[in-house]
Amino acid sequence: MSLTTFSFPTPTRFGAGSIRELPAHLARLAIRRPLVVTDGGLVKTDAFRILASVLGEGGRDLDWFVFDGVHPNPVEDDVRQSAALFMAKGCDGVIAIGGGSPLDAGKAARLLVKRPGFDFNKFYSEPADWTGLVPFVAIPTTAGTGSEVGRSSVITLDSTHRKAVIFHAELLAKLVVLDPELTVGLPPRLTAATGADALTHCIESFTCPQFHPMCDGIALEGISLIVEALPRAVRDGRDIDARGRMLVGAAMGAIAFQKDLGVVHSMAHPLSSLCGMHHGLANALCLVAGMNFCARTKPGLYRRVGIACGADVLNCSDGEADCKTIGFITQFLAGIGLSAKLREHGVKAEHLDALVDQAVDDPCHRTNAVPVSREDFRSLYLEVI
Ligand SMILES: NC(=O)c1ccc[n+]([C@@H]2O[C@H](COP(=O)([O-])OP(=O)(O)OC[C@H]3O[C@@H](n4cnc5c(N)ncnc54)[C@H](O)[C@@H]3O)[C@@H](O)[C@H]2O)c1
Ligand SMILES: [Zn+2]
Repeated sequence: MSLTTFSFPTPTRFGAGSIRELPAHLARLAIRRPLVVTDGGLVKTDAFRILASVLGEGGRDLDWFVFDGVHPNPVEDDVRQSAALFMAKGCDGVIAIGGGSPLDAGKAARLLVKRPGFDFNKFYSEPADWTGLVPFVAIPTTAGTGSEVGRSSVITLDSTHRKAVIFHAELLAKLVVLDPELTVGLPPRLTAATGADALTHCIESFTCPQFHPMCDGIALEGISLIVEALPRAVRDGRDIDARGRMLVGAAMGAIAFQKDLGVVHSMAHPLSSLCGMHHGLANALCLVAGMNFCARTKPGLYRRVGIACGADVLNCSDGEADCKTIGFITQFLAGIGLSAKLREHGVKAEHLDALVDQAVDDPCHRTNAVPVSREDFRSLYLEVI
């Protein structure tokens, strides 16, 4: 058994109205001139209006600035521009509000504040001292990526046009605010797609083979929360209880994937970088194929996932348990409107070679439950295209 660190360190305030406490938390963190990093869609929502009114209540002690240019599937320039505005305005902390895209861009901007001009291509080849990054407060308004509790930032690099995972413990937030009232305006399709991302995190992290029983427990409880609450949140966006459970389930998914992810995420990343597909949707449309693929080599892999879903798998053979669990997930995704083929979302046969090339190079599948070859990726994409 290898030496391992178990770490669940992010202070998290959860509950409807928790955003109202923000000025007090900022004062405690000595943040007086925060840069708010978000996207152009979010600034028009009630979630942003609530944040603006709360920051307004900070009075003369708080001067705040906004960068609202983050792209869905953020690119290096989003990070550069956030860092440039941070420095131009003499800011002293970053608040990222939105889905995973603004959270990832805001998180990484602090690297460029510490080392202006740093080349992200050299992040792993030239290790640097990243201690003392400016403080970061993460406020998710989708319940999916769990980026708020993660130590990674997923940015599409200019040089490769691929999603790179910038990973460092110093990237962690000093505070996470999980306020379900900020997610009530998320439309049903995005609620479903982001929730499917969280579900995929829990399933892939639970089934990746590394020894991490703490993450395994969190992943299984996350699955139970999500399969119960996500259909309610999709049906009625104002269901605060469902929204709250989804926020916690999403954070649990990301805590669990400290352990790692698998083949489905390696299929999903190229679908975003090459075809612009939303990350959660890409996972949703690949999840069942990925599960069938893994179960063929490791029968019984999904029995405990099935139990967490409430499927009747306890006394089944391994093969039957997988079959029932995967059947449950298929129905579940269809029930929230996620049963399309990739071609219905603009993916074409001519994308196949490039998708396979990028998926093979993506690191997530190296920790998959079973090895995945180039030919496997090709057949998997053909199955879902
Ligand atoms: N860092 C990590 O650990 C991690 C994990 C998984 C995914 N990701 C990354 O996160 C990104 C995806 O994030 P996402 O799925 O949250 O989507 P997103 O951040 O791209 O947001 C999608 C859309 O939802 C809108 N939106 C967000 N909250 C809203 C609200 N409350 N009301 C109305 N509209 C709202 C946004 O304006 C945007 O148009 C991808 O780049 C993915 O690679 C990161
Ligand atoms: Zn994901």
